[in-house]
Amino acid sequence: MLKGISIAIDGPAAAGKSTIAKKIAQKLNYTYIDTGAMYRALTYKAICNDINIKSDHDLSKLLQETDIILKPVNGSQAVWIDGVDRSEEIRSQKVTANVSMVATHANVREMMVGKQRELANGTGVVMDGRDIGTAVLPNAELKIFMTASVEERAVRRFNENESRGIHIPLDQLKREIEKRDQSDSERTVSPLKMADDAVLVDTTSLSVNEVVDKVILLAEERVRP
Ligand code: CDP
Ligand code: CDP
Repeated sequence: MLKGISIAIDGPAAAGKSTIAKKIAQKLNYTYIDTGAMYRALTYKAICNDINIKSDHDLSKLLQETDIILKPVNGSQAVWIDGVDRSEEIRSQKVTANVSMVATHANVREMMVGKQRELANGTGVVMDGRDIGTAVLPNAELKIFMTASVEERAVRRFNENESRGIHIPLDQLKREIEKRDQSDSERTVSPLKMADDAVLVDTTSLSVNEVVDKVILLAEERVRP
């Protein structure tokens, strides 16, 4: 087993972050933390409770009252909200369309970052999101900025949806991805950007296994420089 280091994986939507992060965590026997799932969980609860997602105050209050638990299951991660498994619900189109607005708020982000650091408080962690290398784990031994062309990312989401019996036109998915990337990159608090010391990994023409091998090689270099 590779000595426990922190691996931060950031990048735009559908670049392959969570797929790769999960596989790396499994191979290295590390803890996997999907931070996007936490923003999705809060968005889901806000929609269910009819909370104004433009209000940082209302959302922070809601977050304080919400129990979000990430549970490892079979190499993946289940998301429990207030004692109920909501892993499917947090991936709905409605949550996806609203999550970037929820993620713009300063107080919400501060609370999320606190929770994420607590979860990472052990050895051997792979965390994926948008601000992991820049804000959550600035001292991570390995930072990856994972990307792929927007066309390729839209095709990946399309295929993923089809395999789950969800039919959304490719053009629509591409527009949604571009919109979310723009909001995530242009927000004032912790925008999506590559950390100065991150390694850029363009996965456009790489298979999942090729990317996994590449990141593991980089992790091994960090442990045995
Ligand atoms: O759909 P995808 O897996 O690419 O997104 P996600 O990782 O589930 O993240 C959903 C949304 O949460 C992102 O589009 C961001 O708006 C927000 N997010 C964030 O702001 N910071 C993070 N560390 C993780 C996610
Ligand atoms: O977490 P993020 O939104 O960055 O992406 P993901 O949900 O891990 O990946 C989106 C889809 O792309 C998944 O179905 C992956 O299997 C697929 N993928 C791929 O085809 N080739 C890669 N090199 C990486 C991911």
